Amino acid sequence: MVRIGVRKAAPNEVSAGLLAVGIHKGEGAPEGVETAAEPALSGGDFSGKEGETALLYADLAAPRLLLVGLGSRACFTLEKLRRTAATAARRARSLGVREAAFVLREPEKAGVEGSARAAAEGATLGLYRFTRYKSGGDKAEPAQASSENDRELEGFDLVLDGDEEAASRGAEVGVKAAAATLLARDLANEPSNVATPEYLAGKAREIAGRYGMEALVLDRTGIEEVGLTGLATVGRSARNEPRFIVLEHWRGGAAAPIVLVGKAVTFDSGGISIKPSGGMENMKFDMSGGAAVLGAMEALGALDLPLNVVALVPATENLPGGDAYKPGDILRMHSGKTVEILSTDAEGRLILADALSYARRYEPAAVVDCATLTGACHVALGDYASGLMGNDEDLLAEVQTAGEVTGERAWPLPLFEEYTEQIRGDVADIKNSGGRYGGALTAGAFLKEFADYPWVHLDIAGTAYGKKGNAYTTKGATGVPARLLVEFLMGRVQ
Ligand code: BES
Ligand code: MN
Ligand code: ZN
Repeated sequence: MVRIGVRKAAPNEVSAGLLAVGIHKGEGAPEGVETAAEPALSGGDFSGKEGETALLYADLAAPRLLLVGLGSRACFTLEKLRRTAATAARRARSLGVREAAFVLREPEKAGVEGSARAAAEGATLGLYRFTRYKSGGDKAEPAQASSENDRELEGFDLVLDGDEEAASRGAEVGVKAAAATLLARDLANEPSNVATPEYLAGKAREIAGRYGMEALVLDRTGIEEVGLTGLATVGRSARNEPRFIVLEHWRGGAAAPIVLVGKAVTFDSGGISIKPSGGMENMKFDMSGGAAVLGAMEALGALDLPLNVVALVPATENLPGGDAYKPGDILRMHSGKTVEILSTDAEGRLILADALSYARRYEPAAVVDCATLTGACHVALGDYASGLMGNDEDLLAEVQTAGEVTGERAWPLPLFEEYTEQIRGDVADIKNSGGRYGGALTAGAFLKEFADYPWVHLDIAGTAYGKKGNAYTTKGATGVPARLLVEFLMGRVQ
């Protein structure tokens, strides 16, 4: 990971391989670099439009000056700052620069600390590449091989004139929050032949070891003994056996814990209700919820937040086989409710329902689950928001705000009683599919049957991975909603 530093200095005096300066549309450059930037601005080569860049060679302490467009001042946000920092860091790397500096600009009312955090996040996230399977190690990157430099950027310093200590605090939080995302991305990008349920369990044990958390991992026998029927049933035909991963962080005294639940289907073929083969490779990402929860636990440990937090990650493959569960089967779940299987491809809600039911033993203050649960949610909200459902208005608002602050947006979807009616069973209490219409909502309504505490569900089917990437994500796993969860937890510290 790139080292993020903070320097109190005038821009023109900063020595670094590259100095990046954000400029608002219609405005001039900050003091110290005005003269250097002037020709590009007055010549019309650079206007400050969002995402625009101009690379200049000027007579400053830094040999390269990169102008980065911030868009209009009135519309400048922490998310845009994140993107700007990422753009600067990526350009520095592609030029082969080792040390870059970035003049910190604060969005209105954001403050130094929050701005430094966002910039640190942007640079760290933007430099991420998943290259471990490219021969030559970190040197080769598939899509960007021709334009990207082999070498990693080593340092990225935030340059400011204000409160250095506040900036350092912000940068430190930003680095740790971004690390949560990078862990989530790494886990989700791993193919299913590597990222098996036991592999995820191993990662949970590592986190526990690093930060003095409690890790409990149930294997197939343990899962059956505890009565997690949904998880046992989905995982029955898999050679890579299921695991139920429990990670506990007890640093909050006697307070009721917060429970995070993450779906971790390490490969979702659909099972007997098998999926079409086109695009099925993307179903290695069906453990992104679990990956984000583990990422958030890593940050929780690194930040040493004074909270009680429990992570529950039901992990399994969903495969067809002679021993696989079948449409028409009826399960008696961990909670005692019975479920008729209409589709073995609606497996996520079965393993989550058991985890939600298991969570009751903690008498939790709040439970947040995240899952690549329905293609319907992707259809409803596209690539830019996770679906947000739940049974508690305050908790819903809290999670939505955490999404807004981190740029990992979540948008409310309804859980009307009618959606629960839609999954009422003919032969069992409920069925695991409500049909085509309102697929994200009937999935949410299904989970609601198992949550009898303040609970929120995030459907991340459209946000957990992408085909393209943006200023600070690449093709593949995004790590969403790891930073949202970290922000939510930080907000719970008294
Ligand atoms: N993992 C999928 C949901 C998914 C689909 C995530 C596409 C990301 C991209 C989930 O297990 C699933 O298959 N859901 C079904 C539910 C249906 C059978 C009721 C779906 O969305 O089609
Ligand atoms: Mn499925
Ligand atoms: Zn799935």
